[in-house]
Amino acid sequence: MIKISPSILSADFANLERDIRKISTADYVHVDVMDGVFVPNISIGLPVVKAIRPVTQQPLDVHLMIVEPGRYAGRFCDAGADIVTMHVEADTEENLLAAIEVIHAKGKRAGVVLKPATPASAVLPYLERVELILVMTVEPGFGGQSFMAGQLDKIRAIRALIEERNPACELEVDGGIGPDTCRACVDAGANVLVAGSAVYGAEDIPARIQLLRG
Ligand code: DX5
Ligand code: ZN
Repeated sequence: MIKISPSILSADFANLERDIRKISTADYVHVDVMDGVFVPNISIGLPVVKAIRPVTQQPLDVHLMIVEPGRYAGRFCDAGADIVTMHVEADTEENLLAAIEVIHAKGKRAGVVLKPATPASAVLPYLERVELILVMTVEPGFGGQSFMAGQLDKIRAIRALIEERNPACELEVDGGIGPDTCRACVDAGANVLVAGSAVYGAEDIPARIQLLRG
């Protein structure tokens, strides 16, 4: 079963509650946290996660695009995140492994994220310790970019590693996912699709979510 995690980066920030209700048929709510340092954009942070927590029962899938995410992982759990994903490029292996333990101690799911230039092998230190791996299919920082088909081999490679060493782990893709690109990601082994502009730009949002699910 393919899961859809619409990114509220494409929602109307002045009407977040209304726009989160529009995606009530989705599996997760994807929340993009950016610090203006790890990526060249600033989005939302802890107070917004806390504010949207009571608005939905859906798991909050919080994607941290910040430097040293390990410092903040526990606080995002406390704010209401259900899944916290951290970029492997943004912190040391030691700090990330410690943060994964903090997330688990709080009863939440942990994940690691790879930028497009980062090889599949970068997941190896975390593979057996996380519930989700996220492969970026655009350079992180902005919604509405074009899908990078060159990431499909990496998705396939990580799916093979997951099957071998942690079959319950989810494999998520993020960036440029829409009706034209979702199938290739699923065929390559992804089971969670993040989509921002393709969901919020649709006339009929529930129909678009259903279409992406395949
Ligand atoms: C990009 C974010 C994505 C973004 C996806 O840095 O991580 O989650 O919202 O937007 P689309 O689906 O429009 O590419
Ligand atoms: Zn994201």
